[in-house]
Amino acid sequence: METLKRVVQHDFHHLPQFHRAEEHRLKAIAHLFTYCEDDYLIALPLLLRSAEEVVPGWNDATSVYGYAGPVASHERIPEPIVRNFQGALKEALVERRVIAAFSRLHPLIVQHDLLAGLGECRASGRTVSIDLTLPLEKQRAQYRSINKRRINKQRREGTVACLCDQEKRYWSEFVNIYGETMRRVNAAQTYFFGEEYFNELARELGSVLHLFVAVIGDKIAAAGLFTICNGIVNSYLSGTRDEFIEFSPMTLMIDTVRLWANEIGARVFHLGGGVGAKEDSLFHHKVGFSDRRHDFTTWRCIVAPETYRELSEQRARMNELQGLQPTSAEYFPAYRCPTVPCAPAKTDGAEIKNTRPRIYLSPPHLGEAELELVKDAFASNWIAPLGPHVDAFEQEFAGYLDVRHAAALSSGTAAIHLALRMLGLRPGEEVICPTLTFAASANPIVYEGGTPVFIDSEETTWNMDPTLLCEELVACAANGRLPRAVIVVDLYGQSADYDPILDACARREVPVIQDSAEALGATYKGRKAGTQGRCGVFSFNGNKIITTSGGGMLVSDNPELIERARFLAMQARDPAPHYQHSTIGFNYRMSNVLAAIGRGQLRVLGERIASRRRNFERYKAVLGTAPGIGFMPLASYGEANYWLTCITIDPEKFGATREDVRLALANHNIEARPIWKPLHLQPVFAHCRVRGGSVAETLFARGLCLPSGSSLTDPELDRVCAIILDTQK
Ligand SMILES: Cc1ncc(COP(=O)(O)O)c(C=O)c1O
Repeated sequence: METLKRVVQHDFHHLPQFHRAEEHRLKAIAHLFTYCEDDYLIALPLLLRSAEEVVPGWNDATSVYGYAGPVASHERIPEPIVRNFQGALKEALVERRVIAAFSRLHPLIVQHDLLAGLGECRASGRTVSIDLTLPLEKQRAQYRSINKRRINKQRREGTVACLCDQEKRYWSEFVNIYGETMRRVNAAQTYFFGEEYFNELARELGSVLHLFVAVIGDKIAAAGLFTICNGIVNSYLSGTRDEFIEFSPMTLMIDTVRLWANEIGARVFHLGGGVGAKEDSLFHHKVGFSDRRHDFTTWRCIVAPETYRELSEQRARMNELQGLQPTSAEYFPAYRCPTVPCAPAKTDGAEIKNTRPRIYLSPPHLGEAELELVKDAFASNWIAPLGPHVDAFEQEFAGYLDVRHAAALSSGTAAIHLALRMLGLRPGEEVICPTLTFAASANPIVYEGGTPVFIDSEETTWNMDPTLLCEELVACAANGRLPRAVIVVDLYGQSADYDPILDACARREVPVIQDSAEALGATYKGRKAGTQGRCGVFSFNGNKIITTSGGGMLVSDNPELIERARFLAMQARDPAPHYQHSTIGFNYRMSNVLAAIGRGQLRVLGERIASRRRNFERYKAVLGTAPGIGFMPLASYGEANYWLTCITIDPEKFGATREDVRLALANHNIEARPIWKPLHLQPVFAHCRVRGGSVAETLFARGLCLPSGSSLTDPELDRVCAIILDTQK
């Protein structure tokens, strides 16, 4: 403490009390490395911990949670003295058998000059602060308008009250809320501080530490710890109860803390950065309070290079043997990096992406196997329609779905068309179809002279609402005019709720065609989507989860149906040596080359689903806590294939419309698409009947499909999220 009294500037992170609390958490011993020369003093607090579990007799050094780093007696320290300090520090670290030293530097106290040249000072992100030396109105003028509106509304309605809990009566509530928040955002284990730590923190820091709580009604909705030291108010740890997320009580809490910080004469309110200094939703929430940013730097110094290299290599070998991979290539020291089970290798497609900065909605993702199979098609001269790859693709596809028969066709649309033709659709007859889908689901009805009748979506899955379908079938039966068929779509990779749908249709003997174009690999109650109805349809166009550049498949357990489909798809050629036709046919067969691609793609379908699921989970982790953002709900009756991650944006709560977000992404060369425009709103179908429609209309108004390709990288996903969160103004 005596040393700290001599330095120009320090924060609570440098206090011995804080180091004591951190000593227990990290099982480490705090050391203040001090160097004095002439009138100058430089001090660096570090925590030394044993590296016994990796190599006996060695230690490494780290800094407290948050921002520490060196402090000094003068704003500027002469260079020779800095060099001498660094020499002495190195010696002290060597003496204590330290392999590597790491410290987060304080973004408000410029410190890297003191460590530059000794190891590496690396830019690691940015933090946000509010300049409290500005007049109050000028501080508030930097708030995003959505935050101002939110605060005004909350103050007006008196629903949220914030208070500084001096006696820390709500301490255990805070501990619970913090834990709940960390679980909600899927935080890494390192962010889960136990109750014991918090108690020790409160004991050690005393009046430096303040607990603020936000109250809605009679419940604590959010709580946060803030410190005050040397004119710096620092936001330490905080959380919001799950049930109050949409009210964003944290916004009013930050405003209240700001006012309090002004009252007590603080100079700056340091809000900090995102989780792990990333520019995530937390960072973007903070950015909504101030334009002021600070560079956050970390210091990494390898003190014993030989040992460091050996340990890192040894750790890499162990990881490989155990099928583990480090969570970050940046982690220091590398041999302490937390690990996760290895994801499937994603080497294919990576090159294409690096040379193409545009982020597409759902681009093709091809690999080596496809090329080999296509080469085989070339080598055998089976280029024209049909050939061994078509037969094999059909068999493998049917095997994958556990369905008896499959016919490979030129597109998914062709498959729907053939299905309708085979079910005997005649001009003037009706076919029921969901309104929330791509036009290709309904177009073939019109090809055959039929009339689509549209059904709204259910909110719980966005798929066709079974209750409305039942109502429509009852009404049709009452009019003595049942539809020729019902087309059910498995939207955006999630299967519809088939039990009630099939039941309602079976009772009236109306066959069901499943348009599972988007849902290959999804399941309904343990069986693959597309296998529940009379026949199922799949698409392999360029944006689907697997692609043949263009193509489709019709599947069914009924051999005659598939046989007939093949016949119609090949111009309905009667068995004769010459070209003989007694029926009008189509040119709808898949070529052997494309089937070869399809076979390769089918082999990696499992990986593609896993990658798209990862996209969804990452989007959910980063955007899921932003107010007003919702995700397509996932039903418990099956597994989705996560083809596209779809969100909804409530403009009132989010502060920007779906279109604002889409255009912001487009400006950054990122493709995102509105949710399907309901077919009953399409000019070509304006004359068609619709049952319900408001759910689909709202989804169209608010819904956005985000880039979801299986070759998307984490930095690309983060870029998309950052732009979305940035539109919140
Ligand atoms: C729901 C739905 N149905 C049908 C199709 C048509 O498939 P294709 O493009 O292969 O004709 C698509 C995709 O394009 C689709 O998303």
